[in-house]
Amino acid sequence: MCGIVGYIGHRDAYPIIIKGLQRLEYRGYDSAGVAIYDGKNINLSKTKGKVEDLKKKSESEISLAGKLGIGHTRWATHGVPNDVNSHPHYSNSGELVIIHNGIIENYDSIKKELIKRGYVFHSDTDTEVLVNLIEEVKKKEDVKLGKAVQIALNQVVGAYAITVFDINKPDEIVVAKLGSPLAIGIGENEFFIASDASPFIEFTNNAMYLEDEQMAILRLGKEIKLRKIKDDSVVYPNIQELQLNIEEIEKGGYDHFMLKEIYEQPRAILDTYRGRLLASQGLIKMAGVDDNLEKFLNANRIIIVACGTSWHAGLVAEYIFEDLARIPVEVEYASEFRYRNPVITDKDVVIAISQSGETADTLAAIKLAKEKGAFVFGVCNVVGSSISRETDAGAYTHAGPEIGVASTKAFTTQITILTLIALKLAKEKGVFSTSKLHEFLTELENIPSKVEKALQSNKLVEKIAEVYKDSTNCLYLGRGYNFPVALEGALKLKEISYIHAEGYPAAEMKHGPIALIDEHMPVIVIATNKGHYDKVVSNIQEIKSRKGRIIAIVTEGDTTVKELADYVIEVPETFESLTPLLTTIPLQLLSYHIALMRGCNVDQPRNLAKSVTVE
Ligand code: AGP
Repeated sequence: MCGIVGYIGHRDAYPIIIKGLQRLEYRGYDSAGVAIYDGKNINLSKTKGKVEDLKKKSESEISLAGKLGIGHTRWATHGVPNDVNSHPHYSNSGELVIIHNGIIENYDSIKKELIKRGYVFHSDTDTEVLVNLIEEVKKKEDVKLGKAVQIALNQVVGAYAITVFDINKPDEIVVAKLGSPLAIGIGENEFFIASDASPFIEFTNNAMYLEDEQMAILRLGKEIKLRKIKDDSVVYPNIQELQLNIEEIEKGGYDHFMLKEIYEQPRAILDTYRGRLLASQGLIKMAGVDDNLEKFLNANRIIIVACGTSWHAGLVAEYIFEDLARIPVEVEYASEFRYRNPVITDKDVVIAISQSGETADTLAAIKLAKEKGAFVFGVCNVVGSSISRETDAGAYTHAGPEIGVASTKAFTTQITILTLIALKLAKEKGVFSTSKLHEFLTELENIPSKVEKALQSNKLVEKIAEVYKDSTNCLYLGRGYNFPVALEGALKLKEISYIHAEGYPAAEMKHGPIALIDEHMPVIVIATNKGHYDKVVSNIQEIKSRKGRIIAIVTEGDTTVKELADYVIEVPETFESLTPLLTTIPLQLLSYHIALMRGCNVDQPRNLAKSVTVE
């Protein structure tokens, strides 16, 4: 996710843009840039770092006068955060300048073609490719910017919200959208563009939101020209009067970042496998794995090191790698691994998982593994983070910034990446046939819509939260793939509601925790219809016979558990190894609602930090 801001009108553009970027910084904050047209030249300044760093740099190095401008705060997906990869980006002629939020999946093939035609590139970004594709179309077809954008976007695959202008036509700005948000503020002889309305709500509450596959030409003194990208057909703008305040807008209308990020999971999972999962061709493309395939295939074992929620994702991966790819896996708390003098050889592959990419214990574990000759692969959500730079190779989750301290979309996107790696290795090892891989990849493509369905249990979960919000203890039980989900659900509850909660393998209950069961003990049991279902039903009966209060996560349509549990929350059916992506959803919602009802600070729980950079 990045933040984009644009302005064309009668006011000075710079103050509007820089303040707008500050409001959008929650969307991405690893680099920022601004480009202002002063009536003669485009004055552009950009830098690695936050908007504050951009403010200092731009105000010391460029002329800020001008009534037309664009600005960008970046969440890197291609190209590490540095000055040259920051947006805005010029076309080769210097006449076009663009900002972009999204991912152009086929940028590499377009870049190669443009290089053949003499284009040069200064950055590693897909965005610089896009602006030069637009320039090439504009020249070759001899059309204006708007038409060139429309033609060019029919040649790209991926997601985008773009704003682009042409120095030769400074009375207009062109925008387009597919997959990433783009709002247009409409004032008196002025237009505002932004990722959400927070940058312009103080100037106008007349706004419209571009729909997917729509583009608009915003020309001063003219009506908005709204078009369908596919065929340039006319669309009539749906202009609305916004009633939201700034804070509500930053949270996308949700009350908290955590809830917003729970609901972002369908898109986050889609963005994470976008460009990597080619189900129709039965292919998985991951450069970090493709370039190091032999290391993975010849490894004696995979050691996964992580902390907290990322460690839970690692536990799910252990089941996935061993079950599907038949590769031995050990999962270690990074904080233990780094101190216990582990036996590591150059035949080991270590996978380090970290949302922030800055967790000190995980970083230390990586350094130890590298010293002992292991190949280390990173799964991070922050491009250019310390862990992503320390590891030998890696793959980024494309979850976008996770602001809430309680990790949610990081967990499901980490599992998505790890599933793709396991499936790729299973195919390479011949454990998976082409048809089995195709079947699996097709189901993985169904997961975002199944997560959407799981999210529909929110109202029921809120009702259940009301019943259990005053509990002092809570037990989470799961078997197989859902044992790590039980651990994760317990962590969510304890870290934001401060209720003591424990996750346990359901079969372990009889070895001790069953002594805890009484009419005061809520027990959340993950009882989906795959993976030793009958044994989990027996566990539920054991709990019921001791008056335990049972909340069960079941596969939709389950009637057996419904007879036994106090409450059942349904999730769609899927493959056993993919159930964690669905069963975790109601548990995230349950912890959110209980914490809220207990008056806790959901986004910033006491004693915790989003990134534990201390030891
Ligand atoms: C999870 O909700 C917590 N915020 C915490 O356990 C977190 O997962 C852990 O600190 C690891 O962080 P990382 O993924 O950024 O390395």
